[in-house]
Amino acid sequence: MGSYDEIFRKSIEEPVAFWKEAAESIDWHKKCDRILDDSNPPFYRWFPDGELNTCFNALDRHVRDGRGDQNALIYDSPVTGTITSFTYQQLLDKVAVFAGALRRIGVGRGDTVIIYMPMIPEAVVAMLACARLGAIHSVVFGGFAANELALRIDHAKPKVIISASGAMEGKKTLAYKPLLDKAMEMADHKIEKCVIYQRPFVTATLNAGRDLDWQELVASAAPADCVPVKATDPLYILYTSGTTGMPKGVIRDNGGHAVALYWSMKYIYNVAPGDVFWSASDVGWVVGHSYIVYAPLLMGCTTVIYEGKPVGTPDPGAFWRVIEQHKVKILFTAPTAFRAIKKEDPDGVYCHKYDLSNFKCLFLAGERLDPDTYHWACSLLDRPVIDHWWQTETGWPIVSNFFGIEHFPTKPGSPTKAVPGYDVRILDPDGNDLPPHHEGEVVIKLPLPPGTLASLWQADDKFISAYTSRFPGCYLTSDGGYKDEDGYIFIMGRMDDVINIAGHRLSTGAMEEIIATHPAVAECAVVGTDDALKGQLPVGLVVLKAGATEAAEDIGKELVQMVRDKIGPIACYKTTAVVPRLPKTRSGKILRGTMRSIANGKDYRMPSTIDDPTTLDEITETFYHLRVPK
Ligand code: COA
Ligand code: AMP
Repeated sequence: MGSYDEIFRKSIEEPVAFWKEAAESIDWHKKCDRILDDSNPPFYRWFPDGELNTCFNALDRHVRDGRGDQNALIYDSPVTGTITSFTYQQLLDKVAVFAGALRRIGVGRGDTVIIYMPMIPEAVVAMLACARLGAIHSVVFGGFAANELALRIDHAKPKVIISASGAMEGKKTLAYKPLLDKAMEMADHKIEKCVIYQRPFVTATLNAGRDLDWQELVASAAPADCVPVKATDPLYILYTSGTTGMPKGVIRDNGGHAVALYWSMKYIYNVAPGDVFWSASDVGWVVGHSYIVYAPLLMGCTTVIYEGKPVGTPDPGAFWRVIEQHKVKILFTAPTAFRAIKKEDPDGVYCHKYDLSNFKCLFLAGERLDPDTYHWACSLLDRPVIDHWWQTETGWPIVSNFFGIEHFPTKPGSPTKAVPGYDVRILDPDGNDLPPHHEGEVVIKLPLPPGTLASLWQADDKFISAYTSRFPGCYLTSDGGYKDEDGYIFIMGRMDDVINIAGHRLSTGAMEEIIATHPAVAECAVVGTDDALKGQLPVGLVVLKAGATEAAEDIGKELVQMVRDKIGPIACYKTTAVVPRLPKTRSGKILRGTMRSIANGKDYRMPSTIDDPTTLDEITETFYHLRVPK
């Protein structure tokens, strides 16, 4: 296999040879002669003349190669008391028939389809059926409100929406259809057809002519074959929070994605066909796309779809029960899940009740892994705990320790070293490489490896302005960090208006846009503050209009409701503080970065351009009072 140094060197110095070899693990309808098209930077295209079908690689080829009777997917839903499994043959049959049903209602190659579904097998079936037809799916996380869904409908312009009647969120029953109807009413783009999967505990009312019942539709459908697509054709669009209310539509292609994910399963996660891989995330996030759906199936593993929480469904032993029952080899989740378990079961009493002998390694990502949680997980599990850093944009890890190459000694607080394919640099504001231990902007030298974002949907200009114009020749991650003398990379957090709440990426800018519409609010800033459970939580600082008479407490409650209604409960917006003014530069720019430092008790340098330094004292006092328990 070779050492990390050898593999990494080859990936950076000979990327074409490196990825050509990696591409051999994928079944191509037409093999490519060219590996990288670099004629139009900063847009790079991997495997430009290759053709394949991602669904074929995820399902059909395993059945062809004799894995038809192996489990492809285990659905474990403590919230509904259901456990079912599907072999590769069964999953293939379901996907082929659903693809046939979608084709009958007009979905074909290049069409966009929105999927708004809870964690049920049908969400995976819907994604793979789109891939089978060469259609482009865009999955929207169930915790987003109608307004967020409407934004995505207008931007992705889907021909069809696939949804379910509802979900069980912990102990709550949520009806999805009213949200979906509201979103479709709000959106300008009109949807031709909706396919609704009815769940037994909540029934959706179907609008005749537009809405179709999933079961009825598939009952009369004929299976559809895989449609070969170009490697560079989009497989999916995944919207992710940027710095404004309009999310960015990350485009993932078919070829690079399949090659990179397969490679990652072998070298990062060290899994082989037949292994059980469980990513306790949601199909609405990038972790769900890559490591619940595509990567485990591309590798011929068994993936677990878990509809539940780490705690409360029914207890903090939920994860250990799933690991024992399904013989999970690798668990991948967010540090928040572990903090939630630690809070309820600090001594690991529940954990020790289960047989975890098949469980080999824990992977964590989505937010910073704090050293306390790392040490707790290590001592509880007594097996490798790997932190790895990546983003929706990259689709697979940028910095990681390795379970498949060399396992380096861990330095808590660092996700370890650059993954082969990623030339990670730390730059000062002028674009110069910084020496070890100097914190700066974390960038990746272009071209990014296969599987990373090809561009932003319908927005090549935004791709350039968001990612490649700041430091030409490099991709801007928007995270700050540093390297040490051994090449370990430390990620210190976002340098923009994006925050991470329970491993979920949200935009403070989007929250500000909503808060600013309250009639009593003159101006506002939303700042991410450290939280012991969820990593970060948003706090709104608002300046009221002169003459506003409403009580601050009432305004706070209204703002909570507004953010819930517009973004969704997942934004976890709960705290508002009224302040006399916001700190600004002399040109009127709000000093958000300085407020972030104050909010989290970090040292900061007094900005030379500040208009009135006393405003910072006011903000310090506000956060002091917010931290003091009432
Ligand atoms: N659909 C609808 N609503 C959802 C939802 C979904 N799929 N997921 C979450 N929500 C709602 C919750 O019900 C909650 O609503 P509420 O304010 O009305 O109670 C709100 O969004 C916040 O959810 P969450 O952050 O999940 O908080 P919680 O208190 O319900 O649970 C944890 C706390 C720690 C158990 C939970 O955050 C968790 O499991 N975290 C791990 C995150 C994770 O795996 N991330 C994956 C990224 S890799
Ligand atoms: P998302 O696009 O939702 O995956 O969020 C990406 C952001 O989450 C990154 O830019 C980081 O700020 C943060 N992040 C993800 N994984 C890690 C990690 N292992 N360590 C530190 N931050 C992380």
